[in-house]
Amino acid sequence: MSEEKYKYGYIQGFSALSKNEKLERIANYSGINPDDFKKYSWTEPSVSEILDSLSENTVSHFSLPFGIAPNFLVNGKDYVLPFVTEESSVVAAMAKAAKIWYSRGGFKAKVLGTVKKGQVHFFWKGSFSLLKEFLPELKQKLYNETASISGNMEKRGGGITEIRILDKTDLIQDYFQLDCDFKTGDAMGANFINSVLEKMATVLEKEISEKFPEFASPEINMAILSNYTPECLVEAWVECPVSKLDNIIKDVLAEVFAHRFEKAVQISKIDVSRAVTHNKGILNGIDSLALATGNDWRAIEAGAHAFAASDGNYKGLSDVSVKNGMFRFSIKLSVNVGTVGGVTNIHPLAKTAIKILKNPSASELMQLFAVAGLASNFSAITALIGNGIQSGHMKLHLKNILWQLNASNEKIQMATSYFKNRKVGYSEVRDFLKREK
Ligand code: MEV
Repeated sequence: MSEEKYKYGYIQGFSALSKNEKLERIANYSGINPDDFKKYSWTEPSVSEILDSLSENTVSHFSLPFGIAPNFLVNGKDYVLPFVTEESSVVAAMAKAAKIWYSRGGFKAKVLGTVKKGQVHFFWKGSFSLLKEFLPELKQKLYNETASISGNMEKRGGGITEIRILDKTDLIQDYFQLDCDFKTGDAMGANFINSVLEKMATVLEKEISEKFPEFASPEINMAILSNYTPECLVEAWVECPVSKLDNIIKDVLAEVFAHRFEKAVQISKIDVSRAVTHNKGILNGIDSLALATGNDWRAIEAGAHAFAASDGNYKGLSDVSVKNGMFRFSIKLSVNVGTVGGVTNIHPLAKTAIKILKNPSASELMQLFAVAGLASNFSAITALIGNGIQSGHMKLHLKNILWQLNASNEKIQMATSYFKNRKVGYSEVRDFLKREK
């Protein structure tokens, strides 16, 4: 497809548009039909049936806001990113970071690997050296016996890419792993990997029993993919001369901003209490994009946290360098996402989200996940080293407080204008409503 599809240019004043105007702008950019959103309602039988069937004992459907952050320039292409989140400030933070970096060269991203993993965990009384010797023959059997499952995936550029046996007997008596690598094309691949592994478990049990009748049959314990995917890896970064960072925080000089930012990231590398919150800020962007695109955010969360602790100490996932007058902020993220299969192809709004992203490949989507994480981390740190997060957050939270206090539409309007340039807090809003009774 031509690169032209990504050349939108900067969208000015998106947040001030009405909902319908926003939808029209997005429709113009992505070719979606604004009616895709309007038709989406759980009272619509076609939608309701799909949602009912995604889970069990469904009695209703739980809605969350679907928002758009425009103006993401990524590898020279323009994107608008869809986010589903209940947390105020997240989408605004994404849009703010996108705007700041649009005029400073945008985001860059590249995929470093797409290998996914899974294991058959088994127990056996024989030695590792016997298994090692048998592995070439066993591997052939495993490939042959799973060919009917992996054939389709191979046509889509995926399949089983490596099979090894790992000796874990020093950790648990008689414990071995059949440790497998997979590529899964544009799918997240959980069903494919688990089907292959379950088949492999039966083959492994039979083949080892037949080859080594002097030992009891291997005891298969589990066959399951791993959500730890350190070789399914993507990097995203932004960079610009430090001198271009003046006034990112109002009235704060570029060098001071870069210095404070560097310290904040350093702290996330040495203090677990801060690292977890730092990464939560990164995941604000990532999980919201996962929800919008129908990806498994629990798998992404688990994998991201494990990756953050991959050297034995839990650390912030992002890095910063301020050297030779250049500011570079980056993230390496282990993330397994798909653009085909699963909920992505079923949920009506997930399908729309994928269209808004111009039907990306899984690799392109991985890059957008890393960009979303970096953007939300950039905004969080910028707020934290500036005026703190509460002033901006509470302004956006004002509506929620008014809802909680059962304010009428008229009072909501009055409060919105009253609190425009005032501190927002629960007691301030409650007192305002009392006064205006
Ligand atoms: C809030 O949802 C996320 C932050 O706490 C992240 C951070 O502290 O970096 C603001």
